[in-house]
Amino acid sequence: MFWLILLFFIFTKVSYSADHYTFKNCSRVDFCNTLRNRVPSDDYTLDATSITLSSDNKTLTARLKSSDNRSDLNLTLNGLQQNTFRLKITEVDSSRYELQDVLDGVPTPLSFGTIETGANSVTITTSDSNFVILNYSPFNIEFIKNGVTEIIFNGNQLSLEINNATSPFTFGVTFPQAVQLYGLHEHCETLALKNTSLNGTDPYRLKNSDVGYYEIESPMALYGAVPVLYGHGINATEGVFLHNAAEQWIETTNNPLGSSHAYFIVETGTLDLFVLLGPTPKEVVRQYTALTGRAPVPPLWSLGYHQSRYSYESQDIVANISSNFDDNNFQLDAIWLDIDYTDGFKYFTWNYTTFSDPVSLQRILASTNKKLVTIIDPHIKVEKGYSVYDRALANDFFVKNPNGSVFQGPCWPGTSSYIDFLNPAARNYYSSLYSYDNFPNSTSTISGIWNDMNEPSVFDNSLEMTLPGDSRHNGNVKHREIHNIYGYLQTMATYHGLLDRDNHQRRPFILTRSHFAGSQRYAAHWTGDNQADWSYLHAAFQGCLTANILGLVFCGADVGGFFNNPSNELMERWYQAGAWLPFFRAHSSKDTKRREPYLLPEESQTVIREAIQTRYKHLPVWYTLFYEHRRTGDPIIRPLFYQYPEERAAYKIDNQVLVGTDILVRAVYGTNVTEVDVYFPAGENEVWVSATSDDVRAGTGLTTIAVVREYSPIYYKRGAIITRKDTIRSNTVEMEKDCHTLYYTANEDGTAHGTIYLDDGISFKYRDQSDFKYISIDIDSTHISFTTLDGSGDYEFVVEKIVRRDIVSLPKNGTPGSYKETILTRDADGELLKNIKTTVIKLK
Ligand code: NOJ
Repeated sequence: MFWLILLFFIFTKVSYSADHYTFKNCSRVDFCNTLRNRVPSDDYTLDATSITLSSDNKTLTARLKSSDNRSDLNLTLNGLQQNTFRLKITEVDSSRYELQDVLDGVPTPLSFGTIETGANSVTITTSDSNFVILNYSPFNIEFIKNGVTEIIFNGNQLSLEINNATSPFTFGVTFPQAVQLYGLHEHCETLALKNTSLNGTDPYRLKNSDVGYYEIESPMALYGAVPVLYGHGINATEGVFLHNAAEQWIETTNNPLGSSHAYFIVETGTLDLFVLLGPTPKEVVRQYTALTGRAPVPPLWSLGYHQSRYSYESQDIVANISSNFDDNNFQLDAIWLDIDYTDGFKYFTWNYTTFSDPVSLQRILASTNKKLVTIIDPHIKVEKGYSVYDRALANDFFVKNPNGSVFQGPCWPGTSSYIDFLNPAARNYYSSLYSYDNFPNSTSTISGIWNDMNEPSVFDNSLEMTLPGDSRHNGNVKHREIHNIYGYLQTMATYHGLLDRDNHQRRPFILTRSHFAGSQRYAAHWTGDNQADWSYLHAAFQGCLTANILGLVFCGADVGGFFNNPSNELMERWYQAGAWLPFFRAHSSKDTKRREPYLLPEESQTVIREAIQTRYKHLPVWYTLFYEHRRTGDPIIRPLFYQYPEERAAYKIDNQVLVGTDILVRAVYGTNVTEVDVYFPAGENEVWVSATSDDVRAGTGLTTIAVVREYSPIYYKRGAIITRKDTIRSNTVEMEKDCHTLYYTANEDGTAHGTIYLDDGISFKYRDQSDFKYISIDIDSTHISFTTLDGSGDYEFVVEKIVRRDIVSLPKNGTPGSYKETILTRDADGELLKNIKTTVIKLK
């Protein structure tokens, strides 16, 4: 087997495309092949006499009668907070697996309002004036908000089957208002989902998979699964979230006239569907993140720049990288150790030949305020005497075969077993491994953990590189029931391990490859093994935009591309783009040339240094956005359609991001690019001011912009106040005491607005003791004022400088406008704004 695997890797390295033999398409997966072609048929009718409302008015149940000899079905409907519904349909006496551990708390049903039973349908109202109409025959369910039908659950695509081996089900959802569908992470795909049914591709597959050399714009499953689909049109945005972690395939059809549609084909588990009625992109995302949770405020250092490689093979190399970054004035917060730091890929150990004194390495890094992040994968080497293995085996903590023996399969260390993260006791055990005692020679400088290969990856092509579907977890649960949450559960255990390790005093930072709905509560994620090619630079924006509207806000991609060697130009452009994704890390594969920025030609170094510095200057923006995400669920980076739902021409734009609401960044990809099209949204009155030149644009759509080598296009919105820290330091820790600089261009009425979030950057006091400050910054033509919106922490917001950019000429008929910059520093009286009276400058 090992040789087969080796041959597979050698072969795929040459071919540079995904292995379609190993990773099946729909026609080679029985349940998908059969059910994809199922002709819609009204197999079920709702039995009007069975409709029951629970005594507390919160749960409606009804019986669906089968027209053939299949089981009748039970339907349960609840109305939840914020225009959300939960619909469950199972066989009568169902023994289907019901997913646990994913939701962020149990959603509380609300009382329904009225219920009117008619001859053909029953109509229910909710306290927030939504209507649900259940039609008896043909059976379907209409969800109506503000008099507009937003979602139809199609009865004729409903089918549930139980046979000996599997229990697949299907259902269809129509979004009557939607012209475009989004979501269904994770694929290497455009932001706007394609029509799988019409153009002959496979449906989008969700089965967490370790796919080598994944391809651009493909419905192939990647490492994570977020079964959330949004429908969007000018009138409404709505969504569904299938709370089910089994393999699934989703056929999508966008309809430019409305009534976009999706057909879900699911291998097993329960049809447990959350229906989100929006009706705006912002509300639908908030509704979804209310169910699966929001990312915590990350430790500040994790928003800095990270340097990684597979692998930095000795502690001398790592120490050398650290000093080279300093000597060459490249900012850096963390260096990452990939699998080779371990003793034979036994996690929680060190290779003492190459890392003879890990503690002294950590001391060296800590002396310049840098962190170390180490990789910990979920497979455990089968080796008697390796205590992590011995104890897991003795305690029955591994995934099993159907016959009860422990599953063994090949991975990096050779024969490996896999921790059963479904078992809470196994999770506790795994968490305990991160303690300073159990992970020898680890100190607090190991500030983050990287959970990789957690789909989980098993080097066996015949198993599609993962655990077999009928392997067993705690409670005899079959792996296929929970496949897509395996990695999610690993990060949950890691998160608790790091919390315990540091007595709940420090925020854990975890990077995960595999993920599921809700992973944002525990970990950041990156887009896996991309390639050093322009198309993957674009894909990084696409992937992280989709992730961001699905709650997974802390997203990034390997800067430079994991496989192959990037040109210097690609490296420059990738740093410029990567600096504008929430997670900013360069990483590369074993057989690539070393490419730390200081190794590149001088001119490239200059460009990359500037890109990294641009990231650090905007740290206050990133940090504030993470806090605001935690308050609201709003994405950190946003696609145009999210912020400008009516801008139909922008629905497919995915090569530019809005960072929050106020910064617009366009990725540049391609050689010798001298101009790019940037989409400026929202009409003549929305004015965008370049952060790097005196260019001023209005929101009149696609506009050709000249591009220079030094920067990708970055624009600030007129009326916004962008708070930066412009002093160049080596890393985030050293920036802590630095003062702020405000950048703004006033609206026509002289006003501008921004927010800033301040806390200690590392602890949970912001959460537990209100130890933070969240401040509104408001400028009008005579004043600047700071108002505390929330928090009672003792944090000083010190502004040392204001950069005011006054419009000289507004853009007109495609001709750009321009601005004049005035820098306002304190005068002899300590006043900051010369002609403006400053009401408060220091805020305690
Ligand atoms: C696969 C990961 O995607 C990659 O980033 C890592 O370098 C290798 N595993 C080795 O750990």
